[in-house]
Amino acid sequence: MALKQQRLYVNIDHVATLRQARRGAEPDPIEAVAICEAAGADGITAHLREDRRHIQDADIERLAQSVTTYFNLEIACVEEMIAIARRLRPQQVTLVPERREEVTTEGGLDIISDPTRISDAISALSDAGIRTSLFIDPAPSVVEMARKLGVPAIEFHTGSYAHSPPGDGGALAALRKASHQAAGLGLAVHAGHGLTVTNVGPVASILEIEELNIGHSIVSRAVFTGLHAAVTEMRQAMEAARGHLSERTETRTR
Ligand code: PXP
Repeated sequence: MALKQQRLYVNIDHVATLRQARRGAEPDPIEAVAICEAAGADGITAHLREDRRHIQDADIERLAQSVTTYFNLEIACVEEMIAIARRLRPQQVTLVPERREEVTTEGGLDIISDPTRISDAISALSDAGIRTSLFIDPAPSVVEMARKLGVPAIEFHTGSYAHSPPGDGGALAALRKASHQAAGLGLAVHAGHGLTVTNVGPVASILEIEELNIGHSIVSRAVFTGLHAAVTEMRQAMEAARGHLSERTETRTR
């Protein structure tokens, strides 16, 4: 299998979190877009939550106008959000689970108990020319259901990997296995959640993963280094892991 180039989409939600701490105008997430893109981000991700805790409706309107790379909008699978997406037409929508009391997205989307609701959303988005990705757990039955739903892409929740104790390789093994399974079924494989410069390597080096969505650690690091440097650092960490992989792939095929 040829090594696919891996994209970095920067999630800018927490630039808005900082702004919402004072309900003011700064920092402006739209200003972050140009900096991330100049630093090598392949796309921009933002999550319009039902509780509007960080990104606001006006931000999404402006993001749809200002992203020059690729705009990945994360939303819950509910009518209100699907209607917003259909009106603004980002290139990609990632459907995510949402619970108001959660601090962040805690697990993958349940696509098994009500598949019709998910397939209706995929059709509605596809009719508007939007590619859909489903944020799911790296489990064989969930991947199989994603294939049945006919979605073009899935994003694996990497939270279990990111939070697993040192030396416990179980979550990474599950991620590798599920990535292989999903790619074999023709699904584009994305991943994200809880990834940092320190832990991104093993995920970036999974052959089948073509897109990483990373937010909190980049914005946190940016407080000290500036956003351009924080994005560059993440890109370099991904490329270092991918570079080793491509050397190994070339040696094997020589
Ligand atoms: N991907 C999805 C679908 C998410 O919901 C999130 C968190 O908003 C991320 C990626 C990014 O996670 P983090 O902010 O931990 O990098």
